[in-house]
Amino acid sequence: MKRFDRHRRLRQSGGIRRMVRENHVSPVDFIYPVFAVEGSGIQEEVPSMPGVFHYSLDRLNEEVDEVVELGIQSVILFGVPENKDACGSSAHAEDGIVQRAIRQVKDRHPGLYVMADTCLCQYTDHGHCGVVENGEIVNDESLRVLAQTAVSQARAGADMIAPSNMMDGFVTAIREQLDDAGFEQTPILSYAVKYASAFYGPFRDAAHSSPRFGDRRTYQMDPANAREALREAASDVEEGADMLMVKPGMAYMDIIRRVRERFDLPVAAYNVSGEYSMVKAAAQRGWIDERAVVLEMLTGLKRAGADLILTYHAKDAARWLMDTH
Ligand code: PBG
Repeated sequence: MKRFDRHRRLRQSGGIRRMVRENHVSPVDFIYPVFAVEGSGIQEEVPSMPGVFHYSLDRLNEEVDEVVELGIQSVILFGVPENKDACGSSAHAEDGIVQRAIRQVKDRHPGLYVMADTCLCQYTDHGHCGVVENGEIVNDESLRVLAQTAVSQARAGADMIAPSNMMDGFVTAIREQLDDAGFEQTPILSYAVKYASAFYGPFRDAAHSSPRFGDRRTYQMDPANAREALREAASDVEEGADMLMVKPGMAYMDIIRRVRERFDLPVAAYNVSGEYSMVKAAAQRGWIDERAVVLEMLTGLKRAGADLILTYHAKDAARWLMDTH
């Protein structure tokens, strides 16, 4: 008989499979998104995201304590403000919801790595990620407000600034203002490649951030494009980003891989709300094995080239990883 390869030799037992495993998922890879809302006594599940809650600041500690206990090292904070206006001024208020949340979380857990999402859509009454003039999202005017927002977040104690607004030049603008304000050591995780994706639907429920008119396609990327993603990422690298993000994750694993291969910066993937909610919904119906599917997805994102994963599954996955050895 013709000689053939026996690939199954290295699959015969759990021991050898673990020894030859090429990629690993660990709680250290996770960045867990947390939503802080104004008011008190609030711990409210987001209807389209089972297992994800809004917390007012007086309830937030319980959530963050749990994250820390599970061995997750980082959170990204999103603020859901009470008051919105045309230019998103509550985004950079010193006592804004996210600034207060950052201060509180850093006070309680100085070692927890706190990222701040820098965008305006939760804070503007029109729901766009930048400043609107005559029905258009104006780029350069938005940069000023975004940079101001980033500085206020750094001042509140954010360890890293994660701008998700997709205006051109946001890394330059934010880097400059951070440096001027004395935060040259605060890194920027750029949402370098962010697609205009329908997978953000549940997040917009959670963050009350749907655009009131139009959509985000003049600033977020066309899902059909891959080369453009590399141009976006190249600009951000040149502008001084410290890490790059690709978002969403699952439907864009080719982009994660290409960004990984082209650039040497750490790469993060955002396993977004719609991806999360699809898994949750199918699991609730008993159609899939949630634990197996989630761990497979997260492993897939690592295999595609992500160093870090922003995921709403982080707490569950951290629990499951504790007993899969
Ligand atoms: C804000 C922002 C969005 C997400 C993170 N930051 C939504 C958007 O662009 O509408 C999406 C996260 C998710 O879907 O989990 N610009």
